[in-house]
Amino acid sequence: MFDIGRAPFLKWPGGKRWLVPEIKQRIGKIEGTYYEPFLGGAAVFFGLAPERAVLSDVNRELIELYETMRDSPNVLHERLSVHHARHTKRYYYQTRAARPSDAIDRAARMLYLNRTCFNGIWRVNRRGEFNVPIGTKTNVVFEGESFSEIARALKGAALRVQDFEQTIKIAGDGDVIYADPPYTVAHNDNGFIKYNDEIFRWADQIRLRDALRAAVERGANVLVSNANHKSIRKLYRGFGKVAAVPRYSVIAGASERRAPTSELLISARL
Ligand SMILES: C[S@@+](CC[C@H](N)C(=O)[O-])C[C@H]1O[C@@H](n2cnc3c(N)ncnc32)[C@H](O)[C@@H]1O
Repeated sequence: MFDIGRAPFLKWPGGKRWLVPEIKQRIGKIEGTYYEPFLGGAAVFFGLAPERAVLSDVNRELIELYETMRDSPNVLHERLSVHHARHTKRYYYQTRAARPSDAIDRAARMLYLNRTCFNGIWRVNRRGEFNVPIGTKTNVVFEGESFSEIARALKGAALRVQDFEQTIKIAGDGDVIYADPPYTVAHNDNGFIKYNDEIFRWADQIRLRDALRAAVERGANVLVSNANHKSIRKLYRGFGKVAAVPRYSVIAGASERRAPTSELLISARL
C-alpha cells in the first residue's frame, strides 16, 4: 500500500525523512496548526500528516508544485507520464531549457527534472535557472505512488511563497512550528562545510532564532533542526532542550564514503 509518510515525492537537499521518527516522538499529537516555514521536500509534513498546516518556502516554483499537486493531482500525473515516456538525454536538456507558461506544465517539468537529474536535487543559478545535468535514473513515474493520496494530505494546508519570518509570526498558542533552515555556521573552523552562504547568512540564523523565541513567548511549541556546531549551540543557549541526533550520511565529494555525523534538534515547550 502507498505510505505517504515514507515517500516524499521530491528529493531535496537537506531532506529530513531520516529524522521523522525523532521529530514525531518529540512533537506528539498536534492540537493547533502545524507551521513549516522551510518546506523543501516536505518530508516532515508528510511524516506527521497534520490536519491543519501553514507551509511555506521562498522557492516559488516549489510552492506552485505543491499547489498543483493539491489541486490537480490527476492532470499532473498525466503530464508527468508524458515526460516519462519521452525521457532521453536530448529530451531532458530540451525540457530543462523550456519555460512553460502553464502552471501544471511547470509543476510536471520540475518533478520530471527532480527525478532524472544528477543526484536528484534542485539547484538554480543566480538567474534562477535550474542547471543540474542529467543523472542516471530514468524512472519518472513510480509504481504504486498515488498523487490523489498526496493531494489529500495537502488539502488542509495553506501554501505560501514567503520568507520564514512572515510564517512564524502568525503562529500562536498551542501551534507547532518545525523549522529546518539551510545550514550555515558562524566560523568554518573545524572542517565543517559551509554552504548556501549567499542565500542564508549567519544574520538570518539570528533572525530565525529571534522569530522563534517570540513565537515561544506567544505560546507556540517549537522544534528546530540545525548543524551540530558550537556556533549553533551558542546561538540557541537558553532556548530549550538540545539533542544531538546521529546520522550516517554520504560526504559530498568523498567518493561516496559513508561517515557518521550528527545534527541538532532544539526544542521549546515540547
Ligand atoms: C534544508 S531545506 C528544508 C528541507 C526539508 N526539511 C525537507 O525535508 O526536504 C531548507 C529550505 O529553506 C528554503 N529557504 C531558504 N531561505 C529561506 C527563507 N529566507 N525563508 C524561507 N525559506 C527559505 C530553501 O528554499 C529550502 O527549500
